[in-house]
Amino acid sequence: MTETKEAKLDYLRVLILAENTVPFDRPLLGQHGLSCFIEARREKASLRLIMDVGQNPDVLSHNMQKLNVSAANIDAVVLSHCHFDHTTGVAALLAAAGKANLPVIAHPHIFRDHFLPGPPLRFIGMSRADGSAGALNAAGGRPILTRDPLSLLPGLMTTGEVPRLTTFEEGGLDVYTLEDGHLQKDMLHDDLSLVACVAGRGLVIITGCSHAGIVNIVTHALGLFPEEKLHAVIGGLHLHGAPEERIRCTVEAINAFAPALVAAGHCTGFQAQVELRRALGERFCPLHVGAEFVIA
Ligand SMILES: [Fe+2]
Ligand SMILES: [Fe+2]
Repeated sequence: MTETKEAKLDYLRVLILAENTVPFDRPLLGQHGLSCFIEARREKASLRLIMDVGQNPDVLSHNMQKLNVSAANIDAVVLSHCHFDHTTGVAALLAAAGKANLPVIAHPHIFRDHFLPGPPLRFIGMSRADGSAGALNAAGGRPILTRDPLSLLPGLMTTGEVPRLTTFEEGGLDVYTLEDGHLQKDMLHDDLSLVACVAGRGLVIITGCSHAGIVNIVTHALGLFPEEKLHAVIGGLHLHGAPEERIRCTVEAINAFAPALVAAGHCTGFQAQVELRRALGERFCPLHVGAEFVIA
């Protein structure tokens, strides 16, 4: 699926509802996790959605209240991947939204077993309360589980599964799943992002953890909108603990896309943030709860 020339948004707003850090002197709470409120408009059509929900529903709900985001006003939920720090409490959010059949868009493997081998072995996928299509249905959601890109509004789509093309990017985690009773290395193929195409600006990519590799994600997004250039990346880049060489190659490749903005936090890691700031100057900023980006 590729989008046509006319498929562009007039307005995009991204507001960070959950992240690891909080700004000075604001009544917001931090947590290890990520959640974004996204508002997209095109002519008379509009869409409001939440991508990821962090790992603490009480903290999310507190921040939503302080930031004037009501669950009752959202049209869809997107889950970027299975990790607990992005998905815990999604059923509670659906219940708070109080709708029937609220679309929950994710990859078909999102409910799989997913763990760090340890010791101690640790499940880091979706929680039991959130981790099945039945649980989300019972809470008022309607899972749409696809590995393909899904158009949400002309000019706004999910990436679907992202091809892994670069030689220097990998998932960044030694994680496993089960297939027919066999242990398998889990490559996090469920990792997906959102791509918005904003008129007069270009592509804005909103990521969860970028386990597919941010350079792979940007390359894939540019393939979905072949006429466009990259405008911004907002989200997690999962370069926390990455080897210096991987960080260097990633920063160099991001810089080559010449984005106007890279706003990266959560699992990006301090070292990668420092290198991004060094390469991009003021075009880089770290994320925090309450950070707001309006692209129009
Ligand atoms: Fe994460
Ligand atoms: Fe993750």
